[in-house]
Amino acid sequence: EITKGINGLDKVILRQTQGSGVEVYLYGAHVTSWKNGQGQELLFVSSKAIFDPPKPIRGGIPICFPQFSNLGTLQSHGFARNRLWTVDNNPPNVTSEVANGVFVDLLLKPTEEDLKIWPHRFEFRMRVTLGPTGDLMLASSIKNTDADGKLFTFTFAHHTYFSVSNISGVEVKGLGKLDYLDNLKNRERATEVGDAITIKSEFDRVYLSTPTEISILDQEKKRTFVVQKDGLPDAVVWNPWEAKAKTMADFGEDEFKYMVCVEAAAIEKPITLKPGEEWKGRLQLSTRL
Ligand code: BG6
Repeated sequence: EITKGINGLDKVILRQTQGSGVEVYLYGAHVTSWKNGQGQELLFVSSKAIFDPPKPIRGGIPICFPQFSNLGTLQSHGFARNRLWTVDNNPPNVTSEVANGVFVDLLLKPTEEDLKIWPHRFEFRMRVTLGPTGDLMLASSIKNTDADGKLFTFTFAHHTYFSVSNISGVEVKGLGKLDYLDNLKNRERATEVGDAITIKSEFDRVYLSTPTEISILDQEKKRTFVVQKDGLPDAVVWNPWEAKAKTMADFGEDEFKYMVCVEAAAIEKPITLKPGEEWKGRLQLSTRL
């Protein structure tokens, strides 16, 4: 179902019979809502988010492509999050897994304007699936469609903003003892000492070669988010905290308490595609009590 969202922007709504639901804007292929069967919102979107292109939407699940952060010459996090994607009404490869869920395929191809800033032809397909028990799956495939025989390289992240009842009671598990790059210290490499990560001040790290499963415990709600991923070896953990939040026009002053970003990513080792080659990445989000 395609309907009009904020500011008249098109969004697709996926619903399951037991009440769970997902909303995804064609602008950025940006998931802005994921609700469980009890109607509770699981993603954080800022009350000050601006739904007005070319401004990216603050919250939900922005896509960072073809560049994570400012690791290259493009705008921060690349341009996929502020382009208008299209719906593919004849999606290929509908397997039984997705057939049990409800899904939509979104497509992005570069325009002539895009080719001026990033001279590579590609097709990016993202299948957004709401599973029968309310899990959210994002399956991406990116193909090099360049006819001139040129390869390209990219970095990538699903910049998921999870909604939490209070950041002081949040533990991120699965990243203990791993190496990370600290974005607050010029990407200095360090090793995590603890088992579970707690956040007590501004936090911006890229954990490297992480396991396929990471979990986020919200102690107050007694809820655990489970992040499962394939093809996305790195994981960014981000919270701007109070001072940085104040510098962000599209983020409320005290909203840092109610969110944590845990981003499935491919950053340390950029992905290279030769013409005709395809990369696949997969993110599955679920909750357990
Ligand atoms: C995170 C980065 O992934 O995204 C941070 O690690 C950055 O450094 C944050 O501040 C938000 O980025 P943006 O461009 O959406 O404000």
